[in-house]
Amino acid sequence: MKEYKYFLIDIADYVATVTINNPKALNALSSPVVEEMISVIEELSAMTDEVRCVVITGAGEKSFVAGADIKEMYEMDPAQGKAYGILGSKAFQMIENMPQPVIAAVNGFALGGGCELAMACDIRIAADTASFAQPECGLGIIPGFAGTQRMARLCGKGFAKMMIYTCNRIKADEALAVGLVQKVVPLEELLPTAKKMASKIASNSPNAVKLAKSAINQGYEMDFVSGNLYESNLFGLCFANSDQVEGMGAFVNKGKATFTGKPLPKK
Ligand code: CAA
Repeated sequence: MKEYKYFLIDIADYVATVTINNPKALNALSSPVVEEMISVIEELSAMTDEVRCVVITGAGEKSFVAGADIKEMYEMDPAQGKAYGILGSKAFQMIENMPQPVIAAVNGFALGGGCELAMACDIRIAADTASFAQPECGLGIIPGFAGTQRMARLCGKGFAKMMIYTCNRIKADEALAVGLVQKVVPLEELLPTAKKMASKIASNSPNAVKLAKSAINQGYEMDFVSGNLYESNLFGLCFANSDQVEGMGAFVNKGKATFTGKPLPKK
Protein backbone atom coordinates (compact mmCIF):
# COMPACT_ATOMS: atom_id res chain seq x y z
CA MET A 1 0.00 0.00 0.00
CA LYS A 2 0.99 3.66 -0.45
CA GLU A 3 2.41 5.65 2.44
CA TYR A 4 -0.21 7.88 4.02
CA LYS A 5 0.24 10.96 6.20
CA TYR A 6 -3.03 10.63 8.09
CA PHE A 7 -3.70 6.88 8.00
CA LEU A 8 -2.01 3.86 9.52
CA ILE A 9 -2.94 0.59 7.85
CA ASP A 10 -2.23 -2.87 9.13
CA ILE A 11 -3.28 -5.95 7.17
CA ALA A 12 -3.22 -9.37 8.83
CA ASP A 13 -5.24 -12.55 8.25
CA TYR A 14 -7.61 -10.89 5.74
CA VAL A 15 -8.43 -8.02 8.13
CA ALA A 16 -7.30 -4.44 7.41
CA THR A 17 -7.17 -2.18 10.44
CA VAL A 18 -7.26 1.47 9.35
CA THR A 19 -6.38 4.08 11.97
CA ILE A 20 -7.21 7.72 11.26
CA ASN A 21 -4.12 9.45 12.54
CA ASN A 22 -4.62 13.18 13.08
CA PRO A 23 -4.58 13.13 16.90
CA LYS A 24 -3.57 16.78 17.42
CA ALA A 25 -6.97 17.74 15.99
CA LEU A 26 -8.71 14.75 17.62
CA ASN A 27 -8.71 13.06 14.16
CA ALA A 28 -10.82 15.82 12.58
CA LEU A 29 -11.56 15.25 8.90
CA SER A 30 -9.88 18.17 7.13
CA SER A 31 -10.04 18.05 3.31
CA PRO A 32 -6.53 16.54 3.04
CA VAL A 33 -7.60 13.79 5.48
CA VAL A 34 -10.76 13.09 3.44
CA GLU A 35 -8.76 13.10 0.17
CA GLU A 36 -6.40 10.50 1.65
CA MET A 37 -9.35 8.50 2.98
CA ILE A 38 -10.69 8.23 -0.58
CA SER A 39 -7.35 6.90 -1.77
CA VAL A 40 -7.19 4.38 1.14
CA ILE A 41 -10.70 3.14 0.30
CA GLU A 42 -9.82 2.82 -3.40
CA GLU A 43 -6.74 0.78 -2.57
CA LEU A 44 -8.46 -1.53 -0.08
CA SER A 45 -11.51 -2.01 -2.34
CA ALA A 46 -9.21 -3.38 -5.04
CA MET A 47 -7.54 -5.81 -2.60
CA THR A 48 -10.34 -8.35 -2.22
CA ASP A 49 -7.87 -11.26 -2.36
CA GLU A 50 -5.98 -9.95 0.70
CA VAL A 51 -8.68 -8.03 2.60
CA ARG A 52 -12.08 -9.46 3.49
CA CYS A 53 -13.08 -7.09 6.27
CA VAL A 54 -11.98 -3.60 7.34
CA VAL A 55 -11.89 -2.09 10.84
CA ILE A 56 -11.76 1.73 11.10
CA THR A 57 -10.70 3.41 14.32
CA GLY A 58 -9.15 6.68 15.51
CA ALA A 59 -5.65 7.22 16.87
CA GLY A 60 -5.37 7.76 20.63
CA GLU A 61 -7.76 6.93 23.44
CA LYS A 62 -9.82 10.09 23.35
CA SER A 63 -11.36 10.48 19.94
CA PHE A 64 -12.64 8.42 17.04
CA VAL A 65 -13.22 11.52 14.89
CA ALA A 66 -14.18 14.96 16.32
CA GLY A 67 -15.91 15.95 13.09
CA ALA A 68 -15.22 17.90 9.96
CA ASP A 69 -12.50 20.55 10.37
CA ILE A 70 -14.16 23.59 11.95
CA LYS A 71 -11.08 25.81 11.47
CA GLU A 72 -11.08 25.02 7.75
CA MET A 73 -14.85 25.55 7.42
CA TYR A 74 -14.73 28.92 9.26
CA GLU A 75 -13.31 30.57 6.11
CA MET A 76 -15.58 28.87 3.56
CA ASP A 77 -18.10 30.47 1.19
CA PRO A 78 -21.26 28.61 0.02
CA ALA A 79 -19.56 27.01 -2.99
CA GLN A 80 -16.63 25.81 -0.89
CA GLY A 81 -19.02 24.52 1.79
CA LYS A 82 -20.94 22.54 -0.81
CA ALA A 83 -17.73 21.14 -2.32
CA TYR A 84 -16.54 20.02 1.15
CA GLY A 85 -19.92 18.35 1.80
CA ILE A 86 -19.74 16.55 -1.52
CA LEU A 87 -16.16 15.42 -0.86
CA GLY A 88 -16.99 13.93 2.57
CA SER A 89 -20.19 12.38 1.25
CA LYS A 90 -18.26 10.81 -1.63
CA ALA A 91 -15.75 9.22 0.78
CA PHE A 92 -18.52 7.85 3.01
CA GLN A 93 -20.54 6.50 0.06
CA MET A 94 -17.37 4.75 -1.09
CA ILE A 95 -17.11 3.11 2.36
CA GLU A 96 -20.75 2.08 2.16
CA ASN A 97 -20.16 0.56 -1.29
CA MET A 98 -16.83 -1.18 -0.60
CA PRO A 99 -16.99 -4.87 -1.49
CA GLN A 100 -15.76 -5.70 2.01
CA PRO A 101 -17.73 -4.96 5.19
CA VAL A 102 -16.40 -2.13 7.35
CA ILE A 103 -16.60 -2.13 11.16
CA ALA A 104 -16.27 1.19 12.99
CA ALA A 105 -14.41 0.69 16.27
CA VAL A 106 -15.47 3.90 18.00
CA ASN A 107 -12.80 4.67 20.58
CA GLY A 108 -14.00 8.06 21.89
CA PHE A 109 -15.65 11.17 20.44
CA ALA A 110 -17.78 10.46 17.36
CA LEU A 111 -19.00 13.98 16.71
CA GLY A 112 -20.45 15.51 13.56
CA GLY A 113 -18.51 13.99 10.66
CA GLY A 114 -17.20 11.36 13.11
CA CYS A 115 -20.69 10.11 13.89
CA GLU A 116 -21.47 10.33 10.16
CA LEU A 117 -18.39 8.25 9.35
CA ALA A 118 -19.42 5.60 11.89
CA MET A 119 -22.92 5.52 10.38
CA ALA A 120 -21.47 4.93 6.88
CA CYS A 121 -19.80 1.75 8.16
CA ASP A 122 -21.63 -1.59 8.13
CA ILE A 123 -21.36 -2.25 11.88
CA ARG A 124 -20.46 -0.03 14.85
CA ILE A 125 -18.75 -1.25 18.01
CA ALA A 126 -18.23 1.41 20.67
CA ALA A 127 -15.90 1.66 23.64
CA ASP A 128 -17.77 2.40 26.87
CA THR A 129 -15.95 5.76 26.81
CA ALA A 130 -17.35 6.73 23.39
CA SER A 131 -19.86 9.51 22.84
CA PHE A 132 -21.94 10.55 19.86
CA ALA A 133 -23.41 13.85 18.69
CA GLN A 134 -24.30 15.93 15.67
CA PRO A 135 -23.23 19.36 16.99
CA GLU A 136 -23.61 21.18 13.65
CA CYS A 137 -26.73 23.25 14.45
CA GLY A 138 -24.74 24.79 17.31
CA LEU A 139 -22.14 25.89 14.75
CA GLY A 140 -24.65 27.43 12.34
CA ILE A 141 -24.53 24.56 9.86
CA ILE A 142 -26.29 21.24 9.32
CA PRO A 143 -24.66 17.81 9.15
CA GLY A 144 -22.94 17.77 5.76
CA PHE A 145 -21.56 14.27 5.31
CA ALA A 146 -25.03 12.63 5.02
CA GLY A 147 -25.86 12.66 8.74
CA THR A 148 -29.42 13.90 8.13
CA GLN A 149 -29.94 10.97 5.76
CA ARG A 150 -28.19 8.09 7.50
CA MET A 151 -29.26 8.84 11.08
CA ALA A 152 -32.95 8.96 10.12
CA ARG A 153 -32.59 5.69 8.20
CA LEU A 154 -30.61 3.94 10.97
CA CYS A 155 -32.46 5.14 14.07
CA GLY A 156 -35.69 6.73 12.84
CA LYS A 157 -36.69 10.31 12.03
CA GLY A 158 -37.67 11.29 15.57
CA PHE A 159 -34.31 10.30 17.05
CA ALA A 160 -32.41 11.96 14.18
CA LYS A 161 -34.34 15.19 14.66
CA MET A 162 -33.80 15.16 18.42
CA MET A 163 -30.04 14.61 18.02
CA ILE A 164 -29.60 17.13 15.21
CA TYR A 165 -31.82 19.92 16.57
CA THR A 166 -30.55 19.68 20.18
CA CYS A 167 -26.86 18.86 19.43
CA ASN A 168 -26.97 16.76 22.63
CA ARG A 169 -24.15 14.32 23.16
CA ILE A 170 -25.12 10.74 24.07
CA LYS A 171 -23.03 8.03 25.67
CA ALA A 172 -22.32 4.59 24.25
CA ASP A 173 -25.06 2.83 26.24
CA GLU A 174 -27.69 5.28 24.93
CA ALA A 175 -26.36 4.77 21.39
CA LEU A 176 -26.75 1.02 21.91
CA ALA A 177 -30.34 1.41 23.13
CA VAL A 178 -31.39 3.21 19.92
CA GLY A 179 -29.44 0.92 17.59
CA LEU A 180 -26.87 3.54 16.63
CA VAL A 181 -24.21 1.01 17.71
CA GLN A 182 -24.43 -2.77 17.80
CA LYS A 183 -22.12 -3.49 20.76
CA VAL A 184 -20.43 -1.67 23.66
CA VAL A 185 -17.25 -2.99 25.26
CA PRO A 186 -14.59 -1.64 27.66
CA LEU A 187 -12.06 0.53 25.79
CA GLU A 188 -9.24 -2.03 26.18
CA GLU A 189 -11.43 -4.69 24.57
CA LEU A 190 -12.53 -2.51 21.65
CA LEU A 191 -9.94 -3.42 19.01
CA PRO A 192 -9.72 -7.11 19.99
CA THR A 193 -13.53 -7.33 19.78
CA ALA A 194 -13.68 -5.55 16.41
CA LYS A 195 -10.84 -7.68 15.01
CA LYS A 196 -12.44 -10.88 16.29
CA MET A 197 -15.72 -9.98 14.59
CA ALA A 198 -13.80 -9.04 11.42
CA SER A 199 -12.00 -12.43 11.47
CA LYS A 200 -15.31 -14.25 11.86
CA ILE A 201 -16.68 -12.36 8.84
CA ALA A 202 -13.44 -13.09 6.92
CA SER A 203 -13.85 -16.83 7.57
CA ASN A 204 -17.13 -16.86 5.60
CA SER A 205 -17.53 -16.69 1.83
CA PRO A 206 -16.20 -13.29 0.69
CA ASN A 207 -18.46 -13.50 -2.36
CA ALA A 208 -21.56 -14.17 -0.24
CA VAL A 209 -20.68 -11.44 2.28
CA LYS A 210 -20.15 -8.93 -0.57
CA LEU A 211 -23.52 -9.83 -2.14
CA ALA A 212 -25.29 -9.78 1.24
CA LYS A 213 -23.91 -6.25 1.84
CA SER A 214 -25.21 -5.13 -1.54
CA ALA A 215 -28.61 -6.82 -1.00
CA ILE A 216 -29.08 -5.09 2.38
CA ASN A 217 -27.77 -1.67 1.30
CA GLN A 218 -29.43 -1.39 -2.11
CA GLY A 219 -32.58 -3.27 -1.07
CA TYR A 220 -33.08 -0.91 1.89
CA GLU A 221 -33.59 1.97 -0.53
CA MET A 222 -36.21 0.04 -2.58
CA ASP A 223 -39.79 -1.02 -1.95
CA PHE A 224 -40.06 -4.55 -0.49
CA VAL A 225 -40.97 -6.38 -3.69
CA SER A 226 -38.15 -4.72 -5.70
CA GLY A 227 -35.69 -5.38 -2.88
CA ASN A 228 -36.79 -9.00 -2.72
CA LEU A 229 -36.29 -9.35 -6.49
CA TYR A 230 -32.84 -7.75 -6.18
CA GLU A 231 -32.04 -10.32 -3.48
CA SER A 232 -33.23 -13.18 -5.74
CA ASN A 233 -30.92 -11.97 -8.52
CA LEU A 234 -27.93 -11.88 -6.15
CA PHE A 235 -28.95 -15.24 -4.66
CA GLY A 236 -28.74 -16.67 -8.19
CA LEU A 237 -25.31 -15.09 -8.69
CA CYS A 238 -24.00 -17.00 -5.64
CA PHE A 239 -24.26 -20.18 -7.71
CA ALA A 240 -21.74 -18.80 -10.22
CA ASN A 241 -19.05 -18.71 -7.53
CA SER A 242 -16.79 -21.47 -6.21
CA ASP A 243 -17.72 -20.49 -2.62
CA GLN A 244 -21.18 -22.04 -3.04
CA VAL A 245 -19.68 -25.35 -4.16
CA GLU A 246 -17.07 -25.14 -1.39
CA GLY A 247 -19.51 -24.22 1.39
CA MET A 248 -22.23 -26.67 0.49
CA GLY A 249 -19.68 -29.36 -0.41
CA ALA A 250 -18.16 -29.03 3.06
CA PHE A 251 -21.61 -29.48 4.61
CA VAL A 252 -22.50 -32.50 2.46
CA ASN A 253 -19.09 -34.15 2.99
CA LYS A 254 -18.86 -33.17 6.69
CA GLY A 255 -15.65 -31.20 6.10
CA LYS A 256 -14.54 -27.59 6.66
CA ALA A 257 -14.94 -24.97 3.93
CA THR A 258 -12.01 -22.83 2.78
CA PHE A 259 -13.35 -19.98 0.71
CA THR A 260 -11.59 -18.09 -2.08
CA GLY A 261 -14.42 -16.05 -3.57
CA LYS A 262 -13.34 -17.06 -7.08
CA PRO A 263 -15.93 -17.34 -9.86
CA LEU A 264 -16.62 -20.81 -11.27
CA PRO A 265 -15.34 -21.40 -14.78
CA LYS A 266 -18.12 -20.70 -17.34
CA LYS A 267 -19.87 -23.88 -18.57
N1 CAA B 1 -12.13 20.68 13.79
C1 CAA B 1 -10.91 21.24 13.93
N2 CAA B 1 -10.18 21.11 15.05
C2 CAA B 1 -10.70 20.39 16.06
C3 CAA B 1 -11.96 19.77 15.99
C4 CAA B 1 -12.68 19.94 14.77
N3 CAA B 1 -13.87 19.35 14.56
N4 CAA B 1 -12.21 19.15 17.14
C5 CAA B 1 -11.14 19.36 17.93
N5 CAA B 1 -10.22 20.11 17.28
C6 CAA B 1 -8.93 20.57 17.78
C7 CAA B 1 -9.10 21.71 18.77
O1 CAA B 1 -9.27 22.93 18.10
C8 CAA B 1 -7.79 21.63 19.53
O2 CAA B 1 -6.77 22.19 18.74
P1 CAA B 1 -5.82 23.33 19.36
O3 CAA B 1 -5.08 22.62 20.45
O4 CAA B 1 -4.98 23.72 18.19
O5 CAA B 1 -6.71 24.39 19.86
C9 CAA B 1 -7.53 20.12 19.58
O6 CAA B 1 -8.33 19.55 18.55
C10 CAA B 1 -7.96 19.50 20.90
O7 CAA B 1 -9.32 19.86 21.12
P2 CAA B 1 -9.85 20.54 22.49
O8 CAA B 1 -8.75 21.33 23.13
O9 CAA B 1 -11.11 21.27 22.17
O10 CAA B 1 -10.11 19.23 23.37
P3 CAA B 1 -11.19 19.07 24.52
O11 CAA B 1 -10.89 17.75 25.15
O12 CAA B 1 -11.24 20.28 25.38
O13 CAA B 1 -12.60 18.99 23.77
C11 CAA B 1 -14.11 18.20 22.07
C12 CAA B 1 -12.86 17.90 22.91
C13 CAA B 1 -15.35 18.22 22.97
C14 CAA B 1 -14.23 17.09 21.04
C15 CAA B 1 -13.97 19.58 21.38
O14 CAA B 1 -12.71 19.61 20.72
C16 CAA B 1 -15.03 19.86 20.36
O15 CAA B 1 -16.13 20.23 20.73
N6 CAA B 1 -14.69 19.71 19.06
C17 CAA B 1 -15.59 20.03 17.99
C18 CAA B 1 -16.64 18.94 17.82
C19 CAA B 1 -17.64 19.33 16.76
O16 CAA B 1 -18.36 20.28 16.87
N7 CAA B 1 -17.70 18.54 15.66
C20 CAA B 1 -18.57 18.77 14.56
C21 CAA B 1 -17.86 19.52 13.48
S1 CAA B 1 -18.93 20.08 12.19
C22 CAA B 1 -19.10 18.74 11.15
O17 CAA B 1 -18.61 17.66 11.41
C23 CAA B 1 -19.85 19.06 9.90
C24 CAA B 1 -20.25 17.91 9.07
O18 CAA B 1 -21.21 17.22 9.28
C25 CAA B 1 -19.53 17.62 7.85
